[in-house]
Amino acid sequence: MLFTGMLLIHVLAVIVWIGGLAFITMLIFPAMYRIQEPLQKVLFFQRIEHRFAPMARIYNAVVGISGFVMLVYTGWYSLLFTLDGLFLTIMVLIWVMWAVMLFGLEPLVIKKMLDSMVKKNEKMEIDAIFRRMNVMHWVLLFVSLVAAGSGVMFAHGPALF
Ligand code: HEM
Repeated sequence: MLFTGMLLIHVLAVIVWIGGLAFITMLIFPAMYRIQEPLQKVLFFQRIEHRFAPMARIYNAVVGISGFVMLVYTGWYSLLFTLDGLFLTIMVLIWVMWAVMLFGLEPLVIKKMLDSMVKKNEKMEIDAIFRRMNVMHWVLLFVSLVAAGSGVMFAHGPALF
């Protein structure tokens, strides 16, 4: 019962979190590129990212806590960093990368970058930064899907070795 409840919370939080990331990457960025005025462009993105980032922190915490409870409940933590637990380890490491980014780097780096763009208001530079951020979002989306795929493989895949 506890395990099933945690698994349910785990998967639902993953859906909302990674779904939101996919939405920003695939729909918000292209919509933003169409805005001509540099300041409007930055403000539009800033409004969305500033709302999404605190939510992403909550999803990250919920996914991590539910995953951690499952690991303790089943004793599967002993599989971490073993061949049998390869997919589990991949999932956990990607989660750690996210936690570092969301709780450490995002407030320090991304927020400052956006704020300085608002001040500078230079079209060329802003477009270049947004293109870089778009690529970064695609990479993060891909990596997150690898984590989700690893979760499915760990839960349902055949024993590997
Ligand atoms: C980016 C982070 C993560 C994503 C996207 C993710 C995604 C998933 C997915 C899609 C499943 C498969 C569920 C199923 O098909 O039944 C799963 C299972 C699981 N996850 Fe994660 N997860 C993440 C982080 C974590 C963390 C940090 C832990 C542990 C501390 C964890 C522990 C587990 C466990 C134990 C299962 C297996 C449940 C079972 O055997 O049915 N996950 N995860």
